[in-house]
Amino acid sequence: MPDGDDKPGGGRLIVLSNRIPRGNIPSGGLVHAIHEALTQFGGLWIGAAEPTPVAEPGLTTIGDDAYERRTFALSEEEHRRYYLGYANSVLWPLFHHRSDLLDIDEGDFDHYATVNKRVARAIAAIAKPNDLIWVQDYHFLMVAHELRALGVSNRIGLFLHIPFPNPSDVMALPQVAMLPAWIAAHDIFGLQTQRDVSSVREMLRADAKTEQLDDGFFRRAGREFCVRAFPIGIDAQAFADAAERATVPRLTIEKRAPLLLGVDRLDYSKGLVHRFEAFAHYLENRPDHYPRPTFLQIAPTSRGDVTAYQEIREELEQTAGAINAQYADLDWTPIRYVNRHVDRDVIAGLYRRADVALVTPLADGMNLVAKEFVAAQDPDDPGVLILSHFAGAVEQMKEALLVNPFDPAGFAHTIADALNMDIRERRRRHDALREGVFRQDIGWWTQRFLDRLSAAPRPIDDYLKAI
Ligand code: G6P
Repeated sequence: MPDGDDKPGGGRLIVLSNRIPRGNIPSGGLVHAIHEALTQFGGLWIGAAEPTPVAEPGLTTIGDDAYERRTFALSEEEHRRYYLGYANSVLWPLFHHRSDLLDIDEGDFDHYATVNKRVARAIAAIAKPNDLIWVQDYHFLMVAHELRALGVSNRIGLFLHIPFPNPSDVMALPQVAMLPAWIAAHDIFGLQTQRDVSSVREMLRADAKTEQLDDGFFRRAGREFCVRAFPIGIDAQAFADAAERATVPRLTIEKRAPLLLGVDRLDYSKGLVHRFEAFAHYLENRPDHYPRPTFLQIAPTSRGDVTAYQEIREELEQTAGAINAQYADLDWTPIRYVNRHVDRDVIAGLYRRADVALVTPLADGMNLVAKEFVAAQDPDDPGVLILSHFAGAVEQMKEALLVNPFDPAGFAHTIADALNMDIRERRRRHDALREGVFRQDIGWWTQRFLDRLSAAPRPIDDYLKAI
């Protein structure tokens, strides 16, 4: 695709993300938003190939339409140590405030660095002067720094989809001393929430080489960079349409029985055990509720090769089993726990059918389920969103019923409030939530990030020499 002056920066867009879609682009969601941005600007989407015994340098083209899709190679050992190891057994738990789950192995970081360097070299070989480089997430924290070291002066932005650790937790990262330089190599370092921005700011304030300027800007090694919140949204209209069209699967629950719904990747950050226990607490204290509520939790296995994920899966199965054994009756099972993938369209229909959504992570960058649930509701008869204080979405979704997932009694009261909420209150809350979800949607997010990135001043040569 030729460079066009109407595009931000006049160049192409190069997006880097660990996962890359191989076949058709699913409608809605982040993948679709990136696809749209790339279709508009032209450029490339780069992501990881399936692991092979040996990793070759360079990129392989896997698709070509309005933009190209290319993969970088990953050896089986790198998959184990860069992806399962450093990314998902060090950065993920640390950034989700679970230092107790850290599994630090020096060799894993070496592989993370090797992969980040290989990707940086591949990008440096193809980037044209005006291309915007947009890095997604914690898998590539070092790529911008490596690109600068290779003399690349393009505008580079990173968006971190997960939370940022607070200043005391971050000390548990053996590479903590390198973090300020990694961050400063970007023009824009984007985060989900103000809370995350504050954590980065505090860390940078403690760095002797970084100077804080106004309006989210900092200066390090002679050049300015910006740390700012860009709360991610969803394709609200597409989701609302899908929910309206969807046929809700037969649930075999009592007629008019309330349905509570949770939809999550099976991850310890999602607070699933706490959620099950709070529901049990609710049942314990309200045995007379009729018709009896059903709590449907969909949680497909994720990162199943990592021990902490195997453990949470076991714990969740045991908790669900114990609660059902205690409270179930001949004709009623209180918790339906589905540990497999369910199609998006079916989920959209389930959101619309549900009376209450339980979005109660212990830590979460944003949590798009909260926004999808709102978009999927019938505005005349909307369901109630219960949202954890620890989901990034809370900064934009104050009209949800907010809970502390660590407090089972308070959580159980909130479930009761949700189930008993009258229609006027449900509509009032829903209208306000819906307005925000539709206004600050995925198009708004992409546009805001790319506008900021293309307006950033270009890195200066002195800085590149100093790296
Ligand atoms: C989170 C991360 C994404 C990641 C997704 C699924 O949302 O922010 O970067 O792709 O989880 O995890 P997986 O390890 O399966 O890619």
